[in-house]
This record gives sequence, C-alpha cells and structure tokens, in this order.
Amino acid sequence: MNYPVWYIPSIGGGTIIATIAIIHVFISHFAVGGGFWLVLLEGCARHRRDRPLYRFTRNFARFFLFATLVCGALTGVGIWFAISLVQPSGTSALIHRFVFVWAAEWVLFLVEIVSIIVYLHTFDRLSSRRHLAIGGIYCAASWLSLFAINGIITFMLTPGAVARQGEVFSAFFNPTFFPSLLLRTCLAILLSGLFVTAVAAFSKDRPLARRLIRIAGAGCLVALGAALPAVFWYLKNLPAPVRTLVEGASPTIVRSLAVARPAAAILSVGALLALWRPGRIGKPAAMIGLAAGLLLMGSFEWTREAARRPYVLQGSIYSNGQRADRPLKEPFLSSTPWSKSTEPGRELFKFQCYACHTLGGINNDILQRTQGMDAPALEAYISQLHAIRPFMPPFIGSPDERRDLAVWLANQQRSGSKP
Ligand code: HEC
Repeated sequence: MNYPVWYIPSIGGGTIIATIAIIHVFISHFAVGGGFWLVLLEGCARHRRDRPLYRFTRNFARFFLFATLVCGALTGVGIWFAISLVQPSGTSALIHRFVFVWAAEWVLFLVEIVSIIVYLHTFDRLSSRRHLAIGGIYCAASWLSLFAINGIITFMLTPGAVARQGEVFSAFFNPTFFPSLLLRTCLAILLSGLFVTAVAAFSKDRPLARRLIRIAGAGCLVALGAALPAVFWYLKNLPAPVRTLVEGASPTIVRSLAVARPAAAILSVGALLALWRPGRIGKPAAMIGLAAGLLLMGSFEWTREAARRPYVLQGSIYSNGQRADRPLKEPFLSSTPWSKSTEPGRELFKFQCYACHTLGGINNDILQRTQGMDAPALEAYISQLHAIRPFMPPFIGSPDERRDLAVWLANQQRSGSKP
C-alpha cells in the first residue's frame, strides 16, 4: 500500500507528532500514577483523621480530573490525527495487528472516565471503604490501559522473532514488554509524585505541605530506585543493533541522554531532601523537580523513538513508510502512485528523507547535514546511506534516481545556504 506524504518541509511530521505526543505522554503517565497517589493520600488522611490532607486530596482530585480527562482526551485524539497523517503505513499495520487490544483500551478508558467522575463526586457521600474501592477501580483501569498500550509501543521497537501476521499474543508480550511496563509504572508514580509536590508547595498550610512533600518524596524515591534496574533490564532485552544506537552510535540519543542523567541526579537529591527536610522544598525547588521529571520522561521517550530508527516498525517498515523487504535497486517513482513526475529529486526527498529531515527547518535540517557536499559526494553518500549511518534506511531507487536526488539536494544547498 502506498500513501501520499503530508509535506511540511520546514517543520517535519516527526516534530508534529513529537509535540503532541510529549504532552500526551506527560498527561497519560500522570493519569496512571495520579490515581495511585489519590488513593494513597485519601487512605492516609482517613487513617490519621487528617482533615486538611483529606481536603487537599479532594481538591487534587478535581485538578486531576480536569488535567487527565480534558487534556488527555484532546491530545490522545490529536495523536491519532497526527500519526495517521504522518505515518499511515505504520498506523495501519498496528491497527491491523492489534485491533482487539485497541478495543480493550477503549473499554478501559470508559471505565477510567466513569470511575474518576464517580470518585470525585462521592467524596463525602460514601463510606471510606466504598470510596477507596472506587479509587482502586480507577487505579486498576488506568494501569491496565498502560499495560495495553505498552504492548503496542514495545512491539514497534522489539517485535521479537514473530513476523507472522495474526500472532497477537507473542507480538504483544514482546522482549521489552515487561521492562518497559515496570519502567513506565515507575515514571508514572514519579511524575505524579512531582505534581503532588508542586501543588503542595503552593499550599498556604505549611504543616500540611510538609506532610505531603515527605510522603511524595518517599514515593518518588522508591519509584526512582525501581526505575534503575528497569532501565538495565530494558537495555539487556534490546537487540544488538538497537543497543549500539542507544550506547552512543546515534548522535540524537547521545544528546538526549546528556539531559536524562543530570535530571535523574537532581530528582534523587530532591527526593532525599523532601524526605528529610520537607520544609526546604519551596515553590522553586518543586518547580525544578517537576521540570527535571518532565525532562527525564521526555528524554526516555525521545531515546526510545530514536533507537527504533531507521524503522517505524522494527524490521518491517522504515520510518519513511517504505517496506523493508522492497528491492533496493528497483526504480522508485514509477511504482509510487502519489509521486509527481515533474521534479524527481524533490519527490525522492519527500518520500524517502523527509520523514526524518526538514528542508531548512527546525529539526535535523538536510541543508545543514549536507553542507559542503557537492552532487557527486552526495551521490556516493546516498548509495551507502545505511552502511555509513545505520539509523538511516537504505536509498531505494535506480542509479538515475539516486543522481536526481543528489543533484536536487546540491541545488537546494546552493539556494538555501546563506552567502
Ligand atoms: C530514519 C530517519 C532518517 C531518514 C529516513 C533519513 N535520515 Fe539522514 N539522518 C538521520 C539522522 C538521525 C541523522 C544524524 C543527525 C545528527 O547528526 O544528529 C542523519 C544525517 C544525515 C546526513 C549527515 C551526514 C552524517 O553522516 O551525519 C546526511 C547527508 C543525510 N542524513 C542524508 C539523508 C538522505 C539523502 C536521506 C534520504 C534518502 C536521509 N538522510 C534519510 C535520519 C534519517
């Protein structure tokens, strides 16, 4: 199957997906971890007969409901729009394989939505056991929705040995399923613990804020501690080529990990401080903690996405939507129904490079990457794309098409670069 390309050369489809997805990832992990914190805080408040803590939990539930239901749903739908426009072949392959998992996911969303609304509105109306049980239902449904989506996302990176259509079970429980589930659970608890800390830091009731920050600090410390072995377990289960990328062969991953390490260090120190000296965590510290948590999460997602390169579905579909089993030397444009024949170089860029390179744009600009290369140098480079840089797919096309692309890129270089 062949699809047209949604071509916005200055921004790039990847950046559009990333922008929506990063927001969605924060919110969706908050939705999973936040339920855990609500039940924990409510349980603590009821057990200690702590009225201020109880009231805080109720207010936090209101903020939580708005953030997760409204923003979560909007960005979730946004992702579907973006991926089906930017990456139609990948999206279609996933829907075909995992249709029942998506169906289960929607049922779980419904349970989440109903239970959190009931939870918020029955705070003072039900017995504590019943109310906590409703919170528990929300927790279970939201964690199971992570469980479901985790199988699909990890399949994209590590499909394992299964290539046959229809083998849903082993595709779902693929090699990185469990490490990723553990890591994401930890990140969900961490991120929402940081939200609790941030909201607490703004509370005027300082003794309450200290109690909350101490509880949140303890939870975040446990989550950070459990995340570390999960990261190593995850790395261990990556196939060798992917691991090489993560361990230094991919420049974007190197940059992303350079952010993750200090963020993790800041969070560990912050969580210890919250535990021993909760009074020292004021608004600025809470905000720095939250920013570090978001950076850590963003860096993990960025690394995972970049590690999948050059594939959108490891081993079967490249990031530019081309099937990996396609013969490399066969003429490309004549078998690509949505391409125009007027400007072959531009069309080849659009169908094969634009998935990861913008043209004079904001992310991985091809003009910058090809600076100083003339047409013959580019032609030689394109013929070895995958051999030189394993995170790029091989060029598909005839020798003439390769030359067309090289000449077109060299011309862009001349017209696009500044004097
Ligand atoms: C799967 C994503 C992907 C696709 C598709 C892709 N590239 Fe790249 N390309 C990259 C990444 C990532 C880099 C390195 C960026 C960095 O250094 O941060 C890169 C770097 C480059 C460089 C810089 C030279 C170097 O060795 O670092 C050139 C030239 C290049 N790409 C050309 C192309 C051409 C031509 C195409 C289309 C035929 C293409 N790329 C398709 C991801 C891709």
